Amino acid sequence: MKRIEGWFPTFIYSSPIQPRWQGLNRELLAECRQIQEYDDKGRKWSAKNYPGGYTSYGSLDKVHRLSSTFMDLQARIDRHVKAYAKALEWDLSDRALEMTDCWINIMPHRTSHSLHLHPNSVVSGTYYVATPRGCAGLKFEDPRMSRFMAAPPRVASPRKENQWYVTYPAKAGNVLLFESWLRHEVPANPLQSERISISFNYAWA
Ligand code: NI
Repeated sequence: MKRIEGWFPTFIYSSPIQPRWQGLNRELLAECRQIQEYDDKGRKWSAKNYPGGYTSYGSLDKVHRLSSTFMDLQARIDRHVKAYAKALEWDLSDRALEMTDCWINIMPHRTSHSLHLHPNSVVSGTYYVATPRGCAGLKFEDPRMSRFMAAPPRVASPRKENQWYVTYPAKAGNVLLFESWLRHEVPANPLQSERISISFNYAWA
């Protein structure tokens, strides 16, 4: 009997952070603004490396240790990372996954973040603080892209598991998790209002 089965899946995790994310986001938003204002080094770094926007990636990449608000965020994300690792059936009996980096991204009109991955980490992800309606999502690329070589193109609207890219909408209060080797990008913000997110890495400690 003929059988065609799919193998080697790539898992992407998405969930509301719950509970009471609105209050958390109000505090995070205020603190993101404060940090942006105070972080001269980061604004300079962003002018070179993140045109039009602000990221604390080059200056303050451990914001999860800066305040109780960010510590609360980390504690919540830890629980989701645990659930994700369980779904991936990772054996973490000897070592734990720990948040190593956490940084702020503020994207005004036209700011984008081109295709990249997060070397030396295990799990990466983003939590959404401010996501004006119509803002860009997070676009992931099929990790086998470099191997397709002479493969024919796909039909116009393939089944979801046959697509080369998938875009997850950015939604305030939601956390997205993925394995750090998976390449992703944020297309340019088409809106006048700012899209604000907090990204992070977990390593195997
Ligand atoms: Ni990234």
